[in-house]
Amino acid sequence: ALPESLVVVSNRQPYSHEWTADPVEGAITTDDVAVTTATGGVTSALDPLMRSLGGTWVAWASGDADMAVADEGIVAVPPGEESYDLKRVPLSDEEIEGYYHGYANQVLWPLCHEESGRIWAKPTYWEQYRVVNERFAKAVRDVTDREDTVWFQDYHFALAPRRVRTARPDATLHHFWHIPWPAPTVFDHCPRGEAVLDGLLACDVIGFHTESDADHFRRCVEATLSDATVDLDDGVVRYEGTETRAVANPLGIDVAGIRSRAENADTGAVRRQLLGDTVPDPSIPVVVGVERLDYSKGIPERIAALDHLWERRPDLRGAFTYVQKASRTREGIADYRRYRQDVVAEMQRINERYGTDDWHPAVYTERRLSAETLAGLYRVADAALVTPHRDGMNLVAHEYPTACVDGDGALVLSELAGAATRLDGALTVNPHDIAEIADALERALELDERDRRDRLDRLQASIEALDSTNWVERQFRADSG
Ligand code: G6P
Repeated sequence: ALPESLVVVSNRQPYSHEWTADPVEGAITTDDVAVTTATGGVTSALDPLMRSLGGTWVAWASGDADMAVADEGIVAVPPGEESYDLKRVPLSDEEIEGYYHGYANQVLWPLCHEESGRIWAKPTYWEQYRVVNERFAKAVRDVTDREDTVWFQDYHFALAPRRVRTARPDATLHHFWHIPWPAPTVFDHCPRGEAVLDGLLACDVIGFHTESDADHFRRCVEATLSDATVDLDDGVVRYEGTETRAVANPLGIDVAGIRSRAENADTGAVRRQLLGDTVPDPSIPVVVGVERLDYSKGIPERIAALDHLWERRPDLRGAFTYVQKASRTREGIADYRRYRQDVVAEMQRINERYGTDDWHPAVYTERRLSAETLAGLYRVADAALVTPHRDGMNLVAHEYPTACVDGDGALVLSELAGAATRLDGALTVNPHDIAEIADALERALELDERDRRDRLDRLQASIEALDSTNWVERQFRADSG
């Protein structure tokens, strides 16, 4: 059963406040501050839950006006429909560097995406990760009583659960690890891996997207902590007096929401907005890719696959335009800055190689798109390429087929994304195999109508079964075993 009220903890906040102009001393008016609503998968799943249950969401105060509009760090949200509290935790530059750009994104992120060569663990990273986890744990202790339920989100908070547990032995602690969990031979690379596991094992339940992630987690505990006993059959870990259930609980999307945005989208306007200035014929078929500029996403291989396909099938030149929607991310980290440069250079290269007066092969945009425009872009696209090297789930793989409300669309999907273990009907590929990606795209474009329709039906049905409401309910059902 769902708890009566809930404390959610995540790095990113559901609503942030930014100054629209230089702040005026004294009274703040609504004109001075703009509210931004986060659009990520976690917020779309948890905001509706918090609206209905009430409680407190604890998150990093990342907006520059966040603390000014909050009373002792707390602000009631959603704006205009206040139904729960958002408790903001401000972080210093040094903390952001060590915790966010440091241990979270240069140790745990590459580790869990099996990129251990990219791990960089400066001493301050671990130090600040601990400090910030303690700060969040304190924020949680401040808003909880003995038997409350707390739900931590993601790899930013591996240590906080233990620090809450010590003060709240009777609380129910949940965690959801949104990224993959690596096999023991990869986890061996983790600096301070024992402490990470010790922190997490203060939870009653830890959710992962796939069976394989949950299984890896249990096996890492078994291999790393000699005091833990692991029951590989029922998924229970016993350690320091706590029983922790490691469960597979795949996250889905708000299916009804995406579908209605796609239905309402003005597809002509979306085409004009995204293709209008560059593409000679804005009514050309479109293939789409949507991601953060993260090295786990496999964007260069995908561009190489387009190159390979146009090389091998000159008749497909001019047959479609590839649209890459990219978002800049984690630019405090050199690997991310380099990745972006590489992607931009590769996009330019294929345009120079194949572009003609009548055809623009690839459009690259870093524009922030509204949820409506994005749904419209998906609806317009004849195929989507989702080819990460590794991904916990990947919700673009859920959003694209859902937005294909005209019954037309094909998904090329990496077999190493969590989504591939649950979605039926995609054309799956090895994300490193450039020829295979090219072949799958060729097939996607040439599927006969029946096959196309049948695959899309299967995709939509499997996506609906994982709707985000089910995710929340399954997580709390796992409590009782
Ligand atoms: C992944 C993580 C999320 C994170 C998101 C965006 O999906 O699992 O926790 O919020 O990436 O990354 P960012 O570093 O911008 O929050």
